[in-house]
Amino acid sequence: MKGAASALLVAIAARRLWPRAGSALHWAASSAAPFYVGHSPALMPAREWRYTFERLARVDLAGQTALVTGANSGIGLATARLLARQGAHVLMACCSPDRCARAVAAIRAGQARARVEAIACDTASLASVRAAGGAALARVRWHGGLDMLVLNAGILASAEPESIDGIERVFATNHVGHHLLVRLLQPALERAARRRGCARVVHVTSHAHYHPPAGGVPLSRAALLESRARAPVLHTYGASKLAQVLCAQELARRVRGARACVLVNAGALTVAYAAASDELRQQRLSGRYFHPIAVEQPPAPAHAANVTLQRAVWALSDELAGLGTVHPT
Ligand SMILES: NC(=O)c1ccc[n+]([C@@H]2O[C@H](COP(=O)([O-])OP(=O)(O)OC[C@H]3O[C@@H](n4cnc5c(N)ncnc54)[C@H](OP(=O)(O)O)[C@@H]3O)[C@@H](O)[C@H]2O)c1
Repeated sequence: MKGAASALLVAIAARRLWPRAGSALHWAASSAAPFYVGHSPALMPAREWRYTFERLARVDLAGQTALVTGANSGIGLATARLLARQGAHVLMACCSPDRCARAVAAIRAGQARARVEAIACDTASLASVRAAGGAALARVRWHGGLDMLVLNAGILASAEPESIDGIERVFATNHVGHHLLVRLLQPALERAARRRGCARVVHVTSHAHYHPPAGGVPLSRAALLESRARAPVLHTYGASKLAQVLCAQELARRVRGARACVLVNAGALTVAYAAASDELRQQRLSGRYFHPIAVEQPPAPAHAANVTLQRAVWALSDELAGLGTVHPT
């Protein structure tokens, strides 16, 4: 236990100093042991397997379309590969066109018939997200909508305090860009939900959402920047991940009548489970939190079920994303 805790601290420190450490771990893990892709096995060996690659292999996603952000490495790449393998048409949304092209080529090299294509999307830039949303809507127009939206792009920390839009950078990258993408793609999700009974928005959040700053999510642009200046890195990251959890709960409530499903989780096989498993589609579970591997657990009890906070963070996210809502003071 003591050893595991030290390993976790070393890994967190390593990722602060060297943000690609996670990817290296995933790449190493994916080549040697595909079961562990996206799960950081050295840190959190799975206690319980509620879903397996064998069960995923029986899911037919032919005719369905998915969009995965941050799809050029780590959990995003593994998820794109898994969904494409089951026949989905996967739009791989990445901030670097070169890295995205390499990831698309890597998937095609292993699966010649994979239907994968790149979309430029820097989640830390509202203009880039708007352009990506437009491009994605154009591509899914003839595909019956968007069946799966996987909001995966993420950073643990950033040397730059603000995004190009003046939003605390970790919050902008992990949450605000994704919030805007959901709002832009909602018509395509609703179309898919009408056709198949269920569309999925999968927020790849983190256990760190249990450790936000005091009060949960700082509720203004200025408060987010102030909190970053004072709080440990993990709390800043935790606030961005908690915002995802809260907005997923709010979205789940808003789309209840539209038969769309919203799930919140972490880990590549768990992401694929949330996006594609038949049992979850049939159950139409919404606003639930799963952790590796496909095990449901309640999200942070102190904040996640707080409807007032869900609404406040939704309003703040609309405001920061330039969607016109004014945050209540
Ligand atoms: N690894 C874990 O154990 C773990 C645990 C809990 C939650 N998570 C969450 O899982 C998600 C994926 O993590 P990971 O471990 O796979 O990390 P990763 O290997 O570092 O991958 C992150 C991905 O996000 C992309 N990205 C970063 N900033 C972006 C931006 N502004 N716009 C678009 N894409 C951007 C990266 O692109 P570039 O390569 O171009 O930078 C990369 O493709 C994150 O949201 C993370 O918070 C991970």
